[in-house]
Amino acid sequence: MKTKSKFYITTPLYYVNASPHIGHSYTQIAVDTISRFHRILGDDVFFMTGTDEHGEKIEKAALEDGFKEGEEKRFTDKIVPNFKRLWKDLNIEYDFFIRTTDSYHEKTVKYILDILHKNKDIYKGEYDGWFCVPCETFWTHTQVAGDICPDCKRPLDKIKEANYFFKMSKYQKWLIAHIEKNPNFIMPDYRKNEVLSFLKNHRLNDLCVSRSKSRFKWGIELPFDKEYVTYVWVDALINYVSGPGLLRDKGKFERYWPADLHIIGKDILRHHAVYWPILLYAAGIEPPRAIFAHGWWTTKGEKISKSKRNIVDPYYIIEKYGVDAYRYFLLRDIPFGLDGNFSEEAVVNRFNSDLANDLGNLLNRTLTMVEKYFGGKAPEHREQSTEYRKKVEMLAGKIRESMAALNFSDTLNAIWEFINRANKSIEETAPWKLAKEKKTTELAQFIYGLLDILRIVAISIYPFMPGSAENMWGQLGLKGFKNIKFKDVRDVGAIALGTRIKKSAPLFPRIKR
Ligand code: ME8
Ligand code: MG
Repeated sequence: MKTKSKFYITTPLYYVNASPHIGHSYTQIAVDTISRFHRILGDDVFFMTGTDEHGEKIEKAALEDGFKEGEEKRFTDKIVPNFKRLWKDLNIEYDFFIRTTDSYHEKTVKYILDILHKNKDIYKGEYDGWFCVPCETFWTHTQVAGDICPDCKRPLDKIKEANYFFKMSKYQKWLIAHIEKNPNFIMPDYRKNEVLSFLKNHRLNDLCVSRSKSRFKWGIELPFDKEYVTYVWVDALINYVSGPGLLRDKGKFERYWPADLHIIGKDILRHHAVYWPILLYAAGIEPPRAIFAHGWWTTKGEKISKSKRNIVDPYYIIEKYGVDAYRYFLLRDIPFGLDGNFSEEAVVNRFNSDLANDLGNLLNRTLTMVEKYFGGKAPEHREQSTEYRKKVEMLAGKIRESMAALNFSDTLNAIWEFINRANKSIEETAPWKLAKEKKTTELAQFIYGLLDILRIVAISIYPFMPGSAENMWGQLGLKGFKNIKFKDVRDVGAIALGTRIKKSAPLFPRIKR
């Protein structure tokens, strides 16, 4: 038997200063969809997600929430379940959840810092510049005008103190060459070009990797100086290697590393596309294979964010419209990579047109006809036409191709074209006329064809809407949903003669406005 190919995919580790919102759920749903697609391709998937729990921002949130210095872990213990609950409610099937406060992770961070220090890539110097707590980012005097963060426009802290630095500039040439040699290392292309032009036109600053304990102590102590904790970004990035087991499970680590795909938002591209590969390279570890930075959900042109208090609560949408409509909307409406404006009205439009009207109706009409004309059983039929088989091949090819390019909206477009061709064929063929004229063979052939189309649609939408796919599978009277494979799409005629359908409530009942 062919050995399975491995596929290691990650989300960012979200800050636990507040509960997750639509933005976090977007990344999560995208990664879940890619993972599910790879699982039905037959790959050995490792999908890791988790939480980023150290640093000054989290400490501040803990203090504001009434916890005392030294009790930050209790605060994060309180917030983490909110993330896990939402992931469960959104049907996110991850393999591993990492917290940066896990002891194996802390050990791994120290282990890597030790290597960099022993290699003399970390040196002590004077930090003279700014720090943005909400962004957990250092800024130099030349980058800052006034005392406002160039990214989030909030007030900065001035810092002038001894700190440790990592020699990032030493590896700048290597990184440029690496990006040029590996065209998919940073995706989409426009993000890659952004990073490359930055790297070619600026000399990288060495990265400050420490924070002084005289300011706050909530972090991983530097292995070579007890007066400092690790800068939270260095701590957090290392999760991608500590999670699969760099220190505690060599076999697993070697199986999954390098990561096949880090999915992130464009806000944290520099950290992932510049700091991360350089840190790994300096530590003698292979860089990840690919990083994809998606766009932002906005409202009134502004990024939706915890600190801007303009958040959209995923529960508000899923309680009103259901999990699958939410998953579908996020991946359908905006090409993956670009920004998108969120509006509830757009969710309702998509729901009524694509889900209730196109997909829901096709299922409902077909099953009604199976009941009416064939006693609720899949009718006898001849081989399906070559023309139909060709269309199925084309659909399968198109899905594979656009999923490989992480083009979710194109994938869904292709599936919806297939659905709508079937809806159109019902109007054209008018099976009710065939029934009236007692053309039973023709009628059976046509209705069986519709059942086959629905079977293919159920498999195709599975990565996006796993709950609805399973529901459809059950209504079609099919078994073995847990073992569906993408290649089954091509199994035209797989529904056995006499299979008893189980028509139930409409998948997506139309929303009245
Ligand atoms: O940056 N639109 O955590 P974070 C789309 N802890 N995606 C959004 C979004 C929006 N409006 N808002 C947030 C951190 N996201 C670090 C990461 S990784 C080693 C450490 C998503 O809680 C998007 O994926 O600020 C973004 O990159 C991430 O949440 C930032 O989450
Ligand atoms: Mg953020």
